Amino acid sequence: MLSSEAEDVMDAAKKQDLSNDEHPPVKRLAKKLKKIGSTMALKADFLRTRKNQGSTEHINKLYNLFAPFYDLVWPSFKDYVASAHYLVDNTVKDSHHVLDVGTGTGILSLLVADKGNPVVGFDLHPKMLAQTRKKATKSSRRSGRVHHLELCRGDATILPFQDNSFDVVTSGFMLVHLSQEQKVTAVAEMRRVLKVGGELALLESRGELTERYDTREVWEENLASIGFASTRIEDIFDVYRIVFAIK
Ligand SMILES: C[S@@+](CC[C@H](N)C(=O)[O-])C[C@H]1O[C@@H](n2cnc3c(N)ncnc32)[C@H](O)[C@@H]1O
Repeated sequence: MLSSEAEDVMDAAKKQDLSNDEHPPVKRLAKKLKKIGSTMALKADFLRTRKNQGSTEHINKLYNLFAPFYDLVWPSFKDYVASAHYLVDNTVKDSHHVLDVGTGTGILSLLVADKGNPVVGFDLHPKMLAQTRKKATKSSRRSGRVHHLELCRGDATILPFQDNSFDVVTSGFMLVHLSQEQKVTAVAEMRRVLKVGGELALLESRGELTERYDTREVWEENLASIGFASTRIEDIFDVYRIVFAIK
């Protein structure tokens, strides 16, 4: 039984066919969802982010619908998982305290927690946070290890943390939901809560492939104007992009 919010999303999305989307991961996503028999999710408007960028209402509707499916999709993309590992392995060291903004079902947070580092998983959507909590409990039970994972709900444009709190801030595929103005605000917030010398690492896609994401040029300009000391942008596999920046 769909919630009325999820039904609204379905109604608005009936005319969409994601399998014709120009962006390779979206095409793959559509195929995958079809395979798992989820015609409901296939029709959903969840990745039509461009026209909905900046709408909290859209995020709420979208993830009400998508939270139970999320881990049937993204973790099954080997290149996505490898990119997430690459990001974590190249930033999180020793006893680094990490913040993962837009943690979703905790893909990045749990990689960090599995290394034994303390991590805060932060997200707007309670159902996504609930999935992370469930996975963390299961994984702790299985491995017998205690995760130093704290979950916190809120908006990335007003982070409820003190200045200079974290060694590393990560964020995967969250900024794509924001308007350009909100994106700059959120990244400035991420910089604010980083310690001096701390590192930001964003898992994104290449803006040269689709207008949902930013080009290298835009990233370099924005990060410099926000005040990061240095930036490094790495494109991996066919579509992923990791934006590293030091405070
Ligand atoms: C595409 S998912 C990515 C989840 C995870 N980082 C990953 O890589 O699988 C985007 C997540 O960002 C969250 N989100 C969107 N807008 C947000 C905001 N303004 N503040 C905090 N989280 C937000 C959504 O609730 C969702 O869980």
